[in-house]
Amino acid sequence: MHISDHIADKLRELADGGHTLNCYIYDTAAMRRKIAHLADIMPPGVEIFYAMKANPHTEFLRTAFEGGARGIEIASLGEAEKAVEAGFSSGQLIYTGPGKSPEELAWAVKHGIRTMHIESLVEAYRLNIIASEAGIHQDILLRINANFDIHEAQTTFSGGSKKFGVDEEQLDDILPQILALEHLNFRGLHVYAASGVLNVDDLLKNCELVFGMAQHIEGEYAGAVCDTIDFGGGFGVDYLEHGHDFDPQAYANGLAKLIKQYDFVGRTFFLELGRYLAADSGWFCTEILDIKVSRGKKQVICAGGINHFRRPAALAINHPMVVLRMSRRPLFAGQVSVRDESVYFGGPLCTGADKLANDIAVEAADIGDIAIFGLAGAYGLSMSNIEFLSHARPEEIIL
Ligand SMILES: Cc1ncc(COP(=O)(O)O)c(C=O)c1O
Repeated sequence: MHISDHIADKLRELADGGHTLNCYIYDTAAMRRKIAHLADIMPPGVEIFYAMKANPHTEFLRTAFEGGARGIEIASLGEAEKAVEAGFSSGQLIYTGPGKSPEELAWAVKHGIRTMHIESLVEAYRLNIIASEAGIHQDILLRINANFDIHEAQTTFSGGSKKFGVDEEQLDDILPQILALEHLNFRGLHVYAASGVLNVDDLLKNCELVFGMAQHIEGEYAGAVCDTIDFGGGFGVDYLEHGHDFDPQAYANGLAKLIKQYDFVGRTFFLELGRYLAADSGWFCTEILDIKVSRGKKQVICAGGINHFRRPAALAINHPMVVLRMSRRPLFAGQVSVRDESVYFGGPLCTGADKLANDIAVEAADIGDIAIFGLAGAYGLSMSNIEFLSHARPEEIIL
């Protein structure tokens, strides 16, 4: 991983401020470029939404807004409020996720959310009652738990028994009931296979599968048209630095081909991208406070752990990392250093789960240096155990 000079300079400036350094650095130039690039290359009808769960910081929302994202995928009322504060109209919001509360459904109906993504029959009935009381017809997509999963993905959202959507096998039982609900306008399907996918063909297979379902529905149910299809998120990033980045151009080409093949030109397609847009716009930067040897292996202890950056532990992977050398004077002669070896990085929490990286090769590290974890812009602070042990919240610094 390469750290650009403006980030290193900022960290040196902060580290010389006399406080223990523990922060996120955000520079959303990459996110802005990615939104513009996707808008350029995707086939007509594809709309890019930012899945704000990846990073709800105002800077990311501002970048999505100014960068030209079509809207925001939200999964809670709190997210809805933040998106609206950032400048998005409620008509630019699409609302996904299981377990939407009656209050959340009522808010969405009242504020004219673009599409509600129905996760179960119960939710459809509940929404129908709320929409009928409000005298409104609400556009919906039905989320399907396809009988398909992408084995190599970091997290799967379909295949097997899942809390997301309605099993594909139940579609013909459930859809007629939903179509009969008078205050819901069925507009199409939402099928999100998996997150963190690097292989374009796997995601395209999901698209093809959904197109097949849409054809089935339109053949079976008079008047039902899937004019909107949501493929979810899922574009991966190369956490393991294998040099195989997700190829959006190959995805765009493949999708364009499928749209033609299925005769779906003129329809609307949603992509709700989180990780791909946000990951390379953030770095978790934490000072090395201690280094010791335990039974032959070096343990490097940092100011922040899974309370501030939980992903590496939660996903059992190492993020790309570099050590910014600070040349601090040793506290005592014989202080332990790291030189060309594989070590463990952890935080200050009293749990063995507090891992930032394990068996990670490090050229050189000393106490006072700064460990910089890359690709931390997505699912970083907001997915962490922030209250555990009540350490101060890391600052989020915008460059
Ligand atoms: C419904 C939904 N849409 C979009 C996303 C974003 O996924 P990704 O970060 O893989 O793009 C998620 C992530 O969990 C999600 O649950």
